[in-house]
Amino acid sequence: MLKIEQQVSLQPFNTLALSSFAENFCRVGSENELREALAWAHQHRLPVTLLGGGSNVVLARDLSGLVVHMAIPGIELMSEDQDRRVVRVGAGENWHQLVLNTISQGWFGLENLSLIPGLVGAAPIQNIGAYGIELSQRFLSLEAIHLATGEQVVMDASDCQFGYRDSVFKHSGRDLYAITAITLALSSKMELCLEYPALQKAVERIGASELTPKQVSDVVCAVRRSKLPDPKDTPNAGSFFKNPVISAERAEYLHQQHPDLVTYHQADGREKLAAGWLVEQTGWKGVMQQGVGTYQDQSIVLVNCGGTATALLELASDIQASVASKFGISLEIEPRVYR
Ligand code: FAD
Ligand code: EPU
Repeated sequence: MLKIEQQVSLQPFNTLALSSFAENFCRVGSENELREALAWAHQHRLPVTLLGGGSNVVLARDLSGLVVHMAIPGIELMSEDQDRRVVRVGAGENWHQLVLNTISQGWFGLENLSLIPGLVGAAPIQNIGAYGIELSQRFLSLEAIHLATGEQVVMDASDCQFGYRDSVFKHSGRDLYAITAITLALSSKMELCLEYPALQKAVERIGASELTPKQVSDVVCAVRRSKLPDPKDTPNAGSFFKNPVISAERAEYLHQQHPDLVTYHQADGREKLAAGWLVEQTGWKGVMQQGVGTYQDQSIVLVNCGGTATALLELASDIQASVASKFGISLEIEPRVYR
């Protein structure tokens, strides 16, 4: 039976540990419970906000209406042919546990995405990516329920319009669907992707000639732990800004002015800049003000050490202003801000 509670603190449900209350809150562990929750919200004419692990949200206000914590479980091998393993996963599974589970089963392809916080259902929202791999490269389809009509839809990768930290769910599909499951194409063959410089360095240090996917996962975890604060100790939402992608001409011009500019060449000819470098150059790295700040080892990770959402968003906008004034680049905020 679905339990709907009133005035629930969302502080334990967001990794920035911001203070916010849900007017109504429920946890759904099945598609039926989700339908029940949506019917209840519909009947009371209340808006619905979906929450996974709360690791990519800025809760800058209380959430009126119904907050639905997506907890639908399940990891299922749907088919295996030759090397391919097709795996369907419920939206409520923990992403990192999924990665470890697939590696232990001998289903490979997710190792570079180890230790990304949050739940499976949110992974398509920004097409999670790290260390040279994006979800879109392993993605086959997702199942979702249209919040307003209750209709079930299945979307493939082209429907999702994946891009760098981007998908249809940030544009025309924003707040329209509850993702209930995703289906991934993994492999029983080890095809490791070790091109990312930080991975290469770590792998060279280990000196192993042939790594296993589990070893790659361990290396990724170690690199991540050395760079990113654990939200349990230092509340944060990962990168607060996206890395800006600009034209090759613009990058060349900036390069002339700033010879140390960090750029990554993109397949479409454009250049991605390291937002961390831009922020560090404007002097914001390691700065703390009003209980919020930038992490001392990674300047685009904003941390909350007892501050407020207002202070956090003020800091973000001060950083954006500095980077715009020094480089003429506008930094886009990565997490979803509920103002
Ligand atoms: P939430 O924060 O709960 O939700 C995010 C958005 O998705 C919200 O708008 C919510 O309404 C919506 N949503 C959630 N679940 C569903 C659903 N089932 N259906 C429809 N909408 C839904 N991201 C990366 O890409 N790469 C990284 O390397 C990375 N590193 C991180 C490191 C740290 C320390 C932290 C704190 C975050 C990091 N992130 C990274 C960001 C974050 O982990 C991902 O964006 C993750 O996918 C968010 O999952 P979540 O369940 O916490 O989503
Ligand atoms: N840098 C600095 N100063 C800093 C931080 C970074 O100069 O304070 C420069 C360095 O040159 C460094 C480069 O920026 O080599 C890149 O930094 P890093 O390797 O830490 O990666 P990132 O580009 O900042 C991105 C993702 C991360 C993801 C890592 C690994 C974005 C916005 N962030 O970070 O994702 O884990 O690459 O692939 O694309 C997230 O989205 O929340 C997230 C953590």
